[in-house]
Amino acid sequence: MLNIAHRGFKGSYPENTMLAFRKAVEVGADGVEFDVHLTKDGHLVIIHDENLIRTCGVDVLVKDLSLAELKKYDAAFAYEAYHEEIPSLREYFAYAKDLDLVTNIEIKNGLYFYEGIEEKLYALIKEYSMEDKVIISSFNHQSILRMKELDDSLALAFLEESILVDPIGYLKDHAIKIYHPIAQTFDKALVDKFHEEGITVNAWTSDKVPYDFKELNDIGFDAIISDYPDRFVRELG
Ligand code: G3P
Ligand code: CA
Repeated sequence: MLNIAHRGFKGSYPENTMLAFRKAVEVGADGVEFDVHLTKDGHLVIIHDENLIRTCGVDVLVKDLSLAELKKYDAAFAYEAYHEEIPSLREYFAYAKDLDLVTNIEIKNGLYFYEGIEEKLYALIKEYSMEDKVIISSFNHQSILRMKELDDSLALAFLEESILVDPIGYLKDHAIKIYHPIAQTFDKALVDKFHEEGITVNAWTSDKVPYDFKELNDIGFDAIISDYPDRFVRELG
């Protein structure tokens, strides 16, 4: 089971920052997950929310700022010990391109649709030769299908929070082979059914309820996306 650090290493460091990504790699994560949006001048940037208020302390939308404007804010505003820029995806790729690291890029376009984000993301993936190192996921499944039209060979995942009536049928209908559900909604029998259909199940964890990495491993998930890549290593080795 792969150890993927959610929003970098959210459990201990400012989320979605280069510091968090480096620290996740240091503790032995197999991969990192983060969220991307588009700036006013069309740059892909790594931040979770549409608005900077929670992570940077300023009430402004990513889509209304240029990359240069956005770079002035501190993505570690809630942490006394750190000051971090909001990373661009280009900066991240420059860091990760030669590492043996899985990169799960979540396209965060559920509220603002960011015209052309899929094409820009694909162009950057190609520029840095990241095709075989990325998993692209989104709650916006239409966006995942647009990525599929651009390149059918990419690792593309439907991200889901709801419990669907027939998730396997839904994935098969759209020829998507990776599913990212919340771990707590799955058990071993269900994961086995997905695997029988050739579908990879990378689960993400909700901190609203406690979880145990050994139990998650026994369920048979292919990867766990968690805030605690360090705990994963301690508990599973
Ligand atoms: O990829 C799973 C997880 O990142 C989705 O939730 O809100 O952390 O982006 P969120
Ligand atoms: Ca995410």
